[in-house]
Amino acid sequence: MYEDFFPIKRDFVFLEESISTNSDLKGLIYEKSLPVFSVICADRQSGGRGRLGRSFYSRAGGAYFSVSFPLSGQEKNIPFMTLLAGLCVSEVIEELTGVKTEIKWPNDIYYNGRKLGGILTELISKNGLTAVVGIGINLSVKEEEIPCELKNIMTSFEAEGLTAPERNTLIRRITERLDIFIYEKKLLSRENEEITGRIKERSFSIGKAVKYKTAEKEICGTVTDITPCGAAVLSLSDGTKKEIFCGELTQ
Ligand code: BTN
Repeated sequence: MYEDFFPIKRDFVFLEESISTNSDLKGLIYEKSLPVFSVICADRQSGGRGRLGRSFYSRAGGAYFSVSFPLSGQEKNIPFMTLLAGLCVSEVIEELTGVKTEIKWPNDIYYNGRKLGGILTELISKNGLTAVVGIGINLSVKEEEIPCELKNIMTSFEAEGLTAPERNTLIRRITERLDIFIYEKKLLSRENEEITGRIKERSFSIGKAVKYKTAEKEICGTVTDITPCGAAVLSLSDGTKKEIFCGELTQ
């Protein structure tokens, strides 16, 4: 049904500061203060959030934005949205700057072994489901400004000596591509080998030895594939394979 609205016309809201653009967008859509197709962007966040309850360092000058996607109910694979967003971010960055980033399963954008950006997908349920995809990309943080505890973990265009993309162009292009993936190509409703191939080509995770914690134990293996559903395939030392659909792979 939402494909009838394609190409999607979105309302963009630009803020100097937000606590978290995901929280703002969820609240405003829920109370119907913003149209269902909206984007909130902020220059900085005072309480940027990441997956698994973590915080996301969001000092001024980054690209911090959240995009709402009302869903029709036909979508079989909502978690795939995070990987699709990662693909959009990585491809658009390369098109605008020539910089080749990698996608660390399931939600991080990596450059030179450190995190350049991250994606947090959340859902709201009111008159149907709406996904809110929050994207943070570190543009202007200088190496010496990176907090000690994040020194080996995060990076930015500035810290790597790279020319950052123009922020509004970056945000608009990523949003437009995600709209095409979700509403024109309907990639949450059907598997697509070509798109999975594009994600795999940019994968940071494939070939890496990782650990995965379940409630009972820790599993060690090597990431050997990403399935068309977006699961990471771990090959274990006993020769078996395990598909991981959610959670975290650590090195
Ligand atoms: C992660 O590192 O686990 C995901 C980080 C996602 C950060 C973005 S910035 C815009 C949006 N608002 C938030 O509070 N988080 C997301």
